[in-house]
Amino acid sequence: MDASLSTSSNPFDTLAQLAGGYCVARCLHVVAGIGLADHLEETPRSAEELAAELQVHPEALARMMRLLAAHGVFEVHEGAFKHSAASRLLRQDHPQSLKAFAKMFGLPVFWQIFEGLEHSLQTGRPAAEKVIPEGLWDYFGTHAEENRIFNAAMTSKSFGQAAGVMAAYDFSGFETIGDIGGGRGHLLAAVLQKAPNAKGILFDLPNVVEDASELASDRLELQAGNFFKDPLPACDGYLLMEIIHDWADEEAVKILKAIRQSAPEGAKLLVIEQLISPDQGPHWSKMLDIHMLALLGGRQRSLPEYQHLFEQSGFRLARMVPTVADVSILEAVPV
Ligand SMILES: C[S@@+](CC[C@H](N)C(=O)[O-])C[C@H]1O[C@@H](n2cnc3c(N)ncnc32)[C@H](O)[C@@H]1O
Repeated sequence: MDASLSTSSNPFDTLAQLAGGYCVARCLHVVAGIGLADHLEETPRSAEELAAELQVHPEALARMMRLLAAHGVFEVHEGAFKHSAASRLLRQDHPQSLKAFAKMFGLPVFWQIFEGLEHSLQTGRPAAEKVIPEGLWDYFGTHAEENRIFNAAMTSKSFGQAAGVMAAYDFSGFETIGDIGGGRGHLLAAVLQKAPNAKGILFDLPNVVEDASELASDRLELQAGNFFKDPLPACDGYLLMEIIHDWADEEAVKILKAIRQSAPEGAKLLVIEQLISPDQGPHWSKMLDIHMLALLGGRQRSLPEYQHLFEQSGFRLARMVPTVADVSILEAVPV
């Protein structure tokens, strides 16, 4: 959500903007869904022109774009629309495109889950269990289109994160790097470019690994499995990006212990996560935290909370490496 939604000095406006905030979100989902940003280059275009090309209602499009522009997505320029930095990120061809990420938040299953958020409030448990009792991961395993959108969203949000991680950490010393719950392998592929002597193993659920089959090479092996049941590969480097935040402490410790069991002496575990912000103001980590609660029963954590998880699973935090992206690298070593 745009920070301006909740920083108004007018109390009515603060509440109205927040209470109706879904309206901005829905406009964003639907314009991402029709690929609007891909139809806008550097020259401003009128809503009529865009609507004709996209076969949508011109006035409705203009009104939605006006609202989005008020929140920094697109800009109004002499009665026409042009890109803002944020709307450029909605383009498919942007190297750090967030198009799929924006579409994922519009998935009906996400909306149904948030409709039942009160269940989380009453119980501290994921609202998702009322809508999809099998859990989100099994749901994606049996819903191919949603699975595709989710995997694409994870790839999409990782473009910027991976760039930050690459710039902050030297991967050249590793021989075998396992990306556990690595999705479609976007982070691992980028890491292998920076570590030309290393091999990589992408470990994720079968339906996800299947979606990454085009990445397989003599340097990148795909391994389908479940980190709660199956043995993990032996590696001297482990990547675990935005996995631990999906889970409550009990499961998080189980995952870390499974890695500890497979990790040879001297291995390094890199937990890549967005730490919960200590600032009082709006911050994406706080929104993500409620998404983790509602969707999965997970949470965003502070550094001491991660240290505690490491201590419970046979690791010790060696150092915390900040990145220019919104994630930190927590380097842990076996004790
Ligand atoms: C939030 S996504 C993160 C993906 C990737 N690491 C990234 O940051 O883009 C969580 C990943 O965990 C995987 N996952 C969930 N449960 C799993 C399990 N039991 N075993 C292996 N992978 C699992 C999901 O399929 C998904 O790819």
